[in-house]
Amino acid sequence: MAELGGLEGENVTVIDGRGRCAIPGLVDCHTHACFAGDRVGEFDLRSGGATYEELHAAGGGILSTVRATRAAGEAGLRAAVERHRQSMLAAGTTTFEAKSGYGLDRKTELAMLRAIAAEGGVPTWLGAHAVPPEFGGADAYLDFALAEVLPEAARLAEAADVFLERGAFDATRARRYLEACARAGLTLRLHADQFTEGGGIPLAIELGARSVDHLEATRPDGVRQLAASDVCGVLLPVAALFLGRPMPPARALIDAGAIVALATDFNPGSAFCESLPVVCSLACTQLGMTPAEALAACTVNAAYVLGRADRLGRLEPGFMADVVLLDAPDWRYLAYHLGGQHVTLVIARGSVAWDRDAPGRRPAGA
Ligand code: NIG
Ligand code: FE
Repeated sequence: MAELGGLEGENVTVIDGRGRCAIPGLVDCHTHACFAGDRVGEFDLRSGGATYEELHAAGGGILSTVRATRAAGEAGLRAAVERHRQSMLAAGTTTFEAKSGYGLDRKTELAMLRAIAAEGGVPTWLGAHAVPPEFGGADAYLDFALAEVLPEAARLAEAADVFLERGAFDATRARRYLEACARAGLTLRLHADQFTEGGGIPLAIELGARSVDHLEATRPDGVRQLAASDVCGVLLPVAALFLGRPMPPARALIDAGAIVALATDFNPGSAFCESLPVVCSLACTQLGMTPAEALAACTVNAAYVLGRADRLGRLEPGFMADVVLLDAPDWRYLAYHLGGQHVTLVIARGSVAWDRDAPGRRPAGA
């Protein structure tokens, strides 16, 4: 502090952080934070034994959120993102990515991307999330999406994403979608190996994707392939927990040398949770990661996924002043205290963005 000169006369706020721990602002590199409605009825059915894939095949699941999202209007979507953004901020997230994919028509997909950007999110076009019922099949839908939506989506989004899975898009269709998106200048990402291994890892590597996300079903060959590449494996332990699926092979990936990030996957169906601290707890208790690995995975490595590793995710000169203060005796309480609420102050881009102790603050989850 003694060497920190040159601030006199500037508009400086002094924050007393004594007794607290400072960590970099958290980076959530995989969310679906733009949606309307909820899936609490489906949650109830799943608790009674129905599976996520069965509900999806019966026209529920993602498609039920599509119906609600199409009806919300752009202002309604923006309000929803703003609400979720506040909950994320209260949990220490200073940068979030969010995907479209609940519109699946031109108007709503583009409205989602605009709403995400307007609320400060990093927008990803998830134009291949599900096949909407008005199309005869996946090929007819992709004909439409690539001709009618991609040109404008490529101007609004930074990346493109696809759900490569049984009942969604297979590897041939995912390739078609991703190759068209790459030609339009978008960074590539994939939802893959969530329920079945469908060739997502080799495809991601071949196409030079930035990340392949989920990986609950990835086996040793996939681990080896991913570890030999610079494609990041984004692990989403809340989704595995929420759907009662096996956890992704985090330890094997890290030990083999893969780049691994952690994210919430926040969405109304498979991961209704905005909290990266909860994700860190799951990483340490279920994925065999250390607290330091978990913190790196939702800061520096997540910044890499978003193409911002040169300015986000570290407390370092030249980086954005995104700082989270924890009222804990040790920063590892972030992961250690499952469900603990230790985030007291969040500084985003150099300004106080959330203060737990300030009167009139917006309560988390409101
Ligand atoms: O990452 N798997 C596909 N997409 C989301 C879930 C979306 C939803 O269920 O609404 C996921 O889990
Ligand atoms: Fe997802």
